[in-house]
Amino acid sequence: MYLPYLPETPERREPVVLGIESSCDETAAAVVRGRHILSDEIASSADTQSLFGGVVPEIASRAHTEAISAVVRRAVGKSGVGFDGIDAVAVTYGAGLLGALLVGVSFAKALAYALNKPLIAVDHIRGHLAAAYTCAPDLEPPFVTLLASGGHTAVLYAETEGKFEILGATLDDAAGEAFDKVARVLGLKYPGGPNIEKCIREGDGKPVVPMPKMLKGGGGYNFSYSGLKTAVINYCHTMEQKGLPYSKADVAASFQCAAVDVLVEKTMAAARAQGVKTVTAGGGVAANSYLRERLSSECRRAGLRLVLPEKRLCTDNAAMIAAEGAVQYRLGNFAKLDLNAKASIPLSATLGGAGRA
Ligand code: KG4
Ligand code: ZN
Repeated sequence: MYLPYLPETPERREPVVLGIESSCDETAAAVVRGRHILSDEIASSADTQSLFGGVVPEIASRAHTEAISAVVRRAVGKSGVGFDGIDAVAVTYGAGLLGALLVGVSFAKALAYALNKPLIAVDHIRGHLAAAYTCAPDLEPPFVTLLASGGHTAVLYAETEGKFEILGATLDDAAGEAFDKVARVLGLKYPGGPNIEKCIREGDGKPVVPMPKMLKGGGGYNFSYSGLKTAVINYCHTMEQKGLPYSKADVAASFQCAAVDVLVEKTMAAARAQGVKTVTAGGGVAANSYLRERLSSECRRAGLRLVLPEKRLCTDNAAMIAAEGAVQYRLGNFAKLDLNAKASIPLSATLGGAGRA
């Protein structure tokens, strides 16, 4: 569902930005006007990838090459503004799979050059954080954000637009990574998160298998997921060695409860300590229904506003890249045509400044 335009005044003309995303297995393109989504298109190679139990970089690059031209054309066509109506081309330059990123970066550079429009380099994680703005155009700092993705888990404090302070982060695995690894142990397909949710629906959803506390009630705002993953592996192996039956749905529900409860506890504690009135979340794990319910009820209880991007905007998409591109456009952060892709970007570099290439 797209939000209606706010009236545009001459003083506040919102930039129209085409966003392109190809960092993993999703080829996506979208057009936004400021924080408003005009179109949002996606083609995924996840079905092919799930045959291999994870993302095979070479398959992802090939699928991006085949899909990108049509996906961009569809996004621009459906936006109603046409190529002429675009003010800038924004593209994810990192972090992600190098070959996959290069497809998007090369395409965006060529398009920006051909259209004679500025190019904007977007950090993928800043895109995930910008998704909240597309769902709440009036959202302004200060707020506390839970970032829970495949590669990162952190509680952040946003004091001014575009600047985040890391209050705490994972000391080992990310939450999404734990979902993916536990799914694999349970014989579920990639991506782990949605398949674990599906598996839980086959049982009664009760957390009956004991799981470790994982820095719950301690460790500041930091997280640790490697012990949780090991606990699941040990439980399944022990049961198998003893020849005892066990319910995958029970293990999945117990894992999900432990993984999510600590995210909610630390996010709410940070919101209390910072004295903010608003909490937001971003990243693929924010699409998890149990996490969304828990955050909603805790925020309601604490009298806080919760801004949760729609589920499809939590997982990889180009609307978030275009929305972050619009922020960078206003800041005048443009990239040169020698822009290169980056496989990894430290979280401190992503969040400290304006997220420039
Ligand atoms: O945020 P994302 O695109 O990763 C990075 O950019 O690093 O999200 C991908 C991650 C995967 O680990 C996937 O298992 C997880 O998000 N995920 C979920 C759900 N949907 C995706 N985790 C839990 N529940 C979900 N419904
Ligand atoms: Zn992502």
